[in-house]
Formats: sequence, C-alpha cells, structure tokens
Amino acid sequence: MDTFNYMFDRKIPYNELPKLPPLKEFLDTEILLKWGLASRSLAELNKNVFRIPNPSMLVNTIALQEAQSSSAIENIFTTADELYKAISDTVNEETANPATKEVLFYREALWSGYNKLMEQKFIDKSTIVSIFQKIKQTNQGFRSPQSQVIIKRGNSDFRSGETVYTPPRGAGIIDEKMDNLLEFMSDQNGLDPLLKMTIAHYQFEAIHPFIDGNGRTGRILNLLYLIEQNLLSHPVLYLSKYIIENKDDYYHLLSGVTQRQDWKSWVLFMLNAVDETSKHTNTKIDEILSQMDATFEYVKPKLKWYSLELNQALFSQPYVKQSLIGKMTNAKSRTTVTNYMSKLVEYGVLSTKVDGREVYFVNNDLIRILG
Ligand SMILES: Nc1ncnc2c1ncn2[C@@H]1O[C@H](COP(=O)(O)OP(=O)(O)OP(=O)(O)O)[C@@H](O)[C@H]1O
Ligand SMILES: [Mg+2]
Repeated sequence: MDTFNYMFDRKIPYNELPKLPPLKEFLDTEILLKWGLASRSLAELNKNVFRIPNPSMLVNTIALQEAQSSSAIENIFTTADELYKAISDTVNEETANPATKEVLFYREALWSGYNKLMEQKFIDKSTIVSIFQKIKQTNQGFRSPQSQVIIKRGNSDFRSGETVYTPPRGAGIIDEKMDNLLEFMSDQNGLDPLLKMTIAHYQFEAIHPFIDGNGRTGRILNLLYLIEQNLLSHPVLYLSKYIIENKDDYYHLLSGVTQRQDWKSWVLFMLNAVDETSKHTNTKIDEILSQMDATFEYVKPKLKWYSLELNQALFSQPYVKQSLIGKMTNAKSRTTVTNYMSKLVEYGVLSTKVDGREVYFVNNDLIRILG
C-alpha cells in the first residue's frame, strides 16, 4: 500500500500532507508489544490517581510541571521556585515575570481545555482554538492562507538556522486537513485511541494550524484526547518532560514520518513516552502518598489541631500561605495562626523562606519529591 511517491522538499509548503489514516501499513509485533506496555502503565496511573484524597491537588502540581517542561521546549526559562510561588497564589499573575506568565498561561490553557471537554464531552475545532488562544493570549484562530511559517532546526524561534519543515499553506487547506484529523480522532475505526493519539500528534504538528504555539497546543491536545477517550481521568500525564529530554529524537522522528513515511519509529517513540512518563508519575504519586502518611503520623500526636485535611492541604502545593493554615484550622486570631505556623516550622513540616519583603512557608518534602 506504499503508494505515496511525493518528492518532499522541506522548503516548500507540504500541501501534499496525506490525510489520515496513514496510507502505509506499519503495525507490527514490536509496536503491539510496546503498545501493551504503555497501555498497562497508563491504566496503572489512572488507578493510582484515585488513591489521592483530592486528585485536583496533585493535578495542579503535575499540571504545573507539565507546563514548565512544555514551555521550556521553547527555551523559555523559568525556575521551579518562581513556579511554586505562582501556583501557591503567592505571586500576582500580573506582576509575574514573562517566563512565569508563559507557564501560567499553559496551565490556564490546560485547565480551560479540560473544563470545556468535561462540559461538552468531545473535542472539536473550537476546543483546539481556545487552547491556542489561552496559550498565546490572543483572539486569533487558525493562521491565514498566506502566512509564512517555517520550522527551523531545534527551536522554532531561532531565526537563523536550517529549515526542517514548511507546513501546508493556502486557502482552505488548514480547515480541510484539520477536519480530516478531527474525524480520524473521533471515528470508531478500530484503532486503539492510544495509537491514534500518537498518529494524531504527528498530523497536528505537520498541519501546524497556528502561527506559533503548535507544540504546546499539540501536547495539551494529547492529554485531552486520552481523557476524551476514557484512558485518563485527570490531566496528569506529564509527557512534555520526556519530549524535552529527547527533543532531538522528537524532531528527527517527526521529519521521518514526513520524508520516509516512517510511522513505526515515531509511534514507538510516543508509546515509549507514555510508558516512561506513566511509570515516572506513578512513582511520584507513591512517594507523595507515603510521605503524607509519614508526616501525619509524626505530627498528629504532637499537635492536636493537626487534621487530615490540613495535612492534605500542605501536600497540595509546595508553597503555603499563612492564610491557608488559618482557614484549615479555623483559628480565631492571627496570633493563633502565627503560633500554629511556628509549630509546623519547629517540627520541620514547613520551613520559612524570605524573599524580599515576603515570607513563604515551604513544604521541603514535597519539593524534594517533585524535584
Ligand atoms: N519536522 C517537523 N514536522 C512537523 N512538526 C514539527 C517538525 N519539527 C518540529 N515540529 C513541531 O513544531 C513544534 C514547534 O512549533 P511552534 O513554535 O508553533 O510551537 P511552540 O509551542 O511555540 O514551540 P515548542 O513546541 O518549541 O514549545 C515542535 O514542538 C514540534 O511539535
Ligand atoms: Mg514557537
């Protein structure tokens, strides 16, 4: 069935990008074995998420790590410290530095896509556009027919450097290819959704429907698709870390599909990303849960106001505000809260961190685990 003979030129808009499903038969034993492993790890993760008392607590931290890695792919550098402050609401979004903002926008995009999916139960064009709009903080939609978009080696924003790919260009072409992609994703065509995610991700990046932000939008779309297809309950699969750590392969394999229809290497790479990432996240969940238990057992006999809920709250974000403790303990006065805080610091649950005029309370155990 290998009938696709187009001579690919990376400097010419790839309007010949074939529609899905892939023309070439590529499923073989090696892929099926990897698919089995990845599916199993993913199912394990999905089960593990429900062991967390309040899943959204971990989702937030993991979503932030995902956001951090995903944005780092574009060399937007931001420290874990800045980020942790940001999710703890101790940083004002308006005054955050540009790198932190970028990450917050990614997280906002992830959550808004997730909420939209929960409401309407399916992914459509508007879901994808709204993810992009949140990421880039814009009202634009798909790029215009005449837009000049090229992908350079390594980093798309690096102006000098070799062109590795030129996405399709021209009136109606993006809509047409996106319609085909969405149809493929929602079709009950017998292919497993996890396999379809890997195929769809290539296609999305190859269409490159937006001026910028296609990588980030595509990675959020992966997560939402697994949720839509009931393979994942919460957006906790932290694929961007794997992708950034293997960025050269990632770029190379995307090109491999375009140039040689090498779906097999690409699909294996993505399945491996799912397998490794699920295992990694499972380990983190186990570590967080057992540290939570250990902390609770250690502190509870010493402080009678230390509740299970407070313990959970302290493990929902690495940076804690004093007001949260006040709320969780129903403390009547500021003095009482201050007193509680100093006890938590004394027993090593939290430590204080002074930054300029601000004081933060930090859960070092959680930071170590999230590392
Ligand atoms: N040869 C290629 N064919 C198709 N897509 C590619 C190719 N090489 C890279 N890409 C995709 O293009 C993305 C970069 O595009 P763009 O700059 O629009 O996205 P971004 O979100 O701003 O950047 P990043 O992914 O670097 O965070 C990469 O993440 C990758 O998914
Ligand atoms: Mg970019």
